[in-house]
Amino acid sequence: MSETIGVFEVEDRTFPPPPEFAAQALTNDQGLYEEAAADFEAFWARQARELVTWNKDFDTTLEWELPFAKWFVGGELNITANCLDRHIEAGRGDKVAYHWEGEPGDTRTITYAELLVEVCKFANVLKGLGLEKGDRVAIYMPMILELPIAMLACARIGVAHSVIFGGFSADAIVDRCDDAQARLIITADGGYRKGAAAPLKPTVDDALASGASSVENVIVANRCDLDPNMVDGRDHWWHDVMADASPDCPAEPMDAEQLLYILYTSGTTAKPKGIMHTTGGYLTQVAFTHKYVFDIKPETDIYWCAADIGWVTGHSYIVYGPLANGVTSVMYEGTPDTPGKDRLWDIVERYKVTQLYTAPTAIRMFMKWGAQEPASHDLSSLRVLGTVGEPINPEAWMWYHDHIGGSARPIVDTWWQTETGGHMITPLPGVTTTKPGSACTTIPGVFAELVDDDGESVSNGGGYLTITKPWPSMLRGIWGDPQRYQDTYWSRFEGKYFAGDGAKLDDDGYLWLLGRVDDVMNVSGHRISTTEVESALVDHSSVAEAAVVGGTDDVTGQAIIGYVILRGGNEPSEALGDEIREHVGVKLGKIARPKTVIIVPDLPKTRSGKIMRRLLRDVADGRQLGDTTTLADPGVVAEIAERAADSDED
Ligand code: WTA
Repeated sequence: MSETIGVFEVEDRTFPPPPEFAAQALTNDQGLYEEAAADFEAFWARQARELVTWNKDFDTTLEWELPFAKWFVGGELNITANCLDRHIEAGRGDKVAYHWEGEPGDTRTITYAELLVEVCKFANVLKGLGLEKGDRVAIYMPMILELPIAMLACARIGVAHSVIFGGFSADAIVDRCDDAQARLIITADGGYRKGAAAPLKPTVDDALASGASSVENVIVANRCDLDPNMVDGRDHWWHDVMADASPDCPAEPMDAEQLLYILYTSGTTAKPKGIMHTTGGYLTQVAFTHKYVFDIKPETDIYWCAADIGWVTGHSYIVYGPLANGVTSVMYEGTPDTPGKDRLWDIVERYKVTQLYTAPTAIRMFMKWGAQEPASHDLSSLRVLGTVGEPINPEAWMWYHDHIGGSARPIVDTWWQTETGGHMITPLPGVTTTKPGSACTTIPGVFAELVDDDGESVSNGGGYLTITKPWPSMLRGIWGDPQRYQDTYWSRFEGKYFAGDGAKLDDDGYLWLLGRVDDVMNVSGHRISTTEVESALVDHSSVAEAAVVGGTDDVTGQAIIGYVILRGGNEPSEALGDEIREHVGVKLGKIARPKTVIIVPDLPKTRSGKIMRRLLRDVADGRQLGDTTTLADPGVVAEIAERAADSDED
């Protein structure tokens, strides 16, 4: 197995579904699993017909020409009609879609009927700017209601959205707009974070000053009264363009395989991949998983996914899944420690949240802040707790279970990826006996296999995680690069989708995810490519060469550690190290800024010139160094270790 797969700890505590929960759950037996195992296409066809409203029924469930899938072929639907119109037509228009809460404490509640009006108006605004089915639009926004409105307006008329997380840099915006040839950017003046207004529009201005020449217009929502620079003819205020927009925009039926969105994610090279998702299969799987994994009862539940819509979790489980299922959601703009470290628990108590979906990194932060924070709030409304984004360590799982779940709520640890579109491996809360730290088993209709280096099946022990059959919400490819799609996901193991994760299978057939086996780091549940950070480091004029590794971090899971060699004529100094760090922040965005930059005289390389990242990781984690005899210059590691130890003392 790959060296990056850590030591597997045996965890034998088990938690069957609480009987009173199982008794009321949407599903509490093996029925769905058995049905899907017998005929997975028939299973998904049934889900598609049950959970989705089609304008025209599909003829073929799946067309599979490895690795290209088409689901629900011949079917026609409009995803926003599924998320909005059909609930209103069924008399549920007055139901709240989102209880939105701004970080400063301002609130806005929007019903399904009101949301439809906003979406239709904004869709007409898009049409007015000349956007047509098949075009691409970039969205760079804070967590305000205009963000789902913008996404849904695009979807209503068949324009693909490409949401760019608000923490990304101007360069990242340029890359993504250039790649997708986006014609419009939808943004805001700023958003509230950590008690202050954080500007966004200037970053868009910087991007447009340096590239993104396909962008013709910019629409700016006013969130913070920051009075941004508005370029005549190019920039338009959201409230101005919406003022006279017609609320009449019938939902046009789309082909099941109509491109719904592109979402860029980091891979093992410097260039992010534009992951493509289409309409019918995506909606089917996100609606199915949202409903059954969270045991959604739309009549009574108040569901809250505390992620950012800039990531896939927000796309599938703040926007499309919850709206398709007609539930009321909470949406929160800001950070969990503003104004106090109990902000989340205060929100859970006030809105009587029934499902909470967050990330292990957040849970570890809450652990650090202390159990007194949740203890000062009434969290008894909670029914299901979810986690996503990275492996959850058993300690964090137990803390979540005890201190948030009152030792009585099922936890669903959901493994999936931007590429998979929806949940793949997770317990079902009324069915599965959980084990702290295990994502348990594949959902009904999804099939996984662990394999070794040669692609041979591993029935017990560690291996590479692969998916063996197509699934409805699978990526349809990489925008503009079908070859890369084939190479990245379908070439390592013949006929199987290689997820890039290592996992271990226990005697009960439970999967334990162990993290990435490629050069992708997972920092606070966000995927960051080592190569991308390395290119940003060498982009600094003083840096000759760089190597980046993910060190271990108690809270963020991994932390970015950059080792750099300076160009001749530069003296190592703390100030220069900081400057280089900041440079990465500017190039890629704050989330990719290394925690530490260590200036080294040389990097440990094999005789064939490959950087030995394993050694650098060991150094970063302060571990005993293993065998260094394959190095071209074994002496170099000792010196690096010394420098790293110095930088720790700072
Ligand atoms: C990791 C986020 C362990 C994994 C939805 C995967 C997880 C990558 C889990 C995808 C989990 C996500 N347990 N690891 N429950 N969920 N991961 O594309 O390494 O941002 O490959 O999608 O996160 O990250 P992405």
